[in-house]
Amino acid sequence: MESKKGTQSYESFPMNGGEGQYSYAQNSNSQRTGADITKHISRDAIIEMLDVESFVQHSSNVIRIADLGCSVGLNTFFTIQNIIDAVNLKSQSQGRHVLDSLELQVFFNDHADNDFNTLLKSLPKEKQYYAAAVPGTFHGRLFPESSIHVFNSSYALHWLSRVPKDIVDKNSDAYNYGRIYFTNEDKKVAAAYSAQFAKDIESFLNSRALELVPGGIMTLIIPCVPPDSKNVFEVAANSMENVLVEMANKGLISHEQVDSFNLPVYMPASEEVKELIEKNGKFKIERSELLYQLYDFKIQQAVDARNGSMEMRAAFEGVLKNHFKEEGIMDEIFIQFEKKLAEATLLFPDPSYRQLGGLFVIKHALA
Ligand SMILES: C[S@@+](CC[C@H](N)C(=O)[O-])C[C@H]1O[C@@H](n2cnc3c(N)ncnc32)[C@H](O)[C@@H]1O
Repeated sequence: MESKKGTQSYESFPMNGGEGQYSYAQNSNSQRTGADITKHISRDAIIEMLDVESFVQHSSNVIRIADLGCSVGLNTFFTIQNIIDAVNLKSQSQGRHVLDSLELQVFFNDHADNDFNTLLKSLPKEKQYYAAAVPGTFHGRLFPESSIHVFNSSYALHWLSRVPKDIVDKNSDAYNYGRIYFTNEDKKVAAAYSAQFAKDIESFLNSRALELVPGGIMTLIIPCVPPDSKNVFEVAANSMENVLVEMANKGLISHEQVDSFNLPVYMPASEEVKELIEKNGKFKIERSELLYQLYDFKIQQAVDARNGSMEMRAAFEGVLKNHFKEEGIMDEIFIQFEKKLAEATLLFPDPSYRQLGGLFVIKHALA
């Protein structure tokens, strides 16, 4: 879906809404596992670095938290609760009693076409915070200056604001003919994806630098590729590409449609993320962890073609429908995709395929 904000045009790619069998709410276990295995690191960082009493003394006793790219389902509530527990623990350790407790306000952000109705209906009944939905792209401004104390964004920053222009331009060297993503050999296409990601991260960080209060913290989980790893997502993307090409060969969709389709996501190298944060200069990296090092099981045990296919469907069905305009072919795409993924995951006992993901805890560089 394409929209305009000011002069900047951007696209939004919502996850499947509702709570049905193909919904993101029902098919986001991998993301939940990522939040789970990193929660103690985020919690400890907040306890160590967030000076809650100083915020209260210098403004009011309201602490504001925002989850950017919250989608639908329980993952966002889980992450928010972890942050709140950490803020409460810190505030108690600074001498504040539970009775004169803080007021907490939580903002759930996603694109306007996210299924906010389902999200807001499923808010925890015993929540200890005031909740608000904030629609809009996190690549631009969402909040007033110096108003948010803790930002989180999990599994969202790899979604690009748009498919890189050059890869759909037939006259460009980076035209991604016949492919829907890229491999290491496709240097020009990879460079176009990487450049778009850099641009998006830059606008994300510039906006957050204005909105975060001095001394505030941002926790980010980004599904990036560890330095000693092959790209697991590339394997899934290749499987999807093979399915689409075979469907075009059978005449179910056109080859032209496949040629002009590209996934609007980019899995950066973990070092690339660090370099972009450092180059931006507005934040200091306080912690960075590779998720696979926190798992106590190996990638091959975690991969199951059925789950993998359902999670891909929850995330990418909207993008595929929007491009191919044929609702009726979705079942066929994902039946074939699951088969291809089952074949492809035979690769994963190779230990150089590792779980994607990095946790970055960052603070204002000047705070
Ligand atoms: C895979 S979901 C992650 C949801 C949740 N954070 C979790 O960890 O389960 C990614 C979400 O990011 C949202 N998103 C992607 N780009 C965005 C943008 N520019 N602004 C706001 N939300 C965005 C998508 O709409 C989607 O709901």
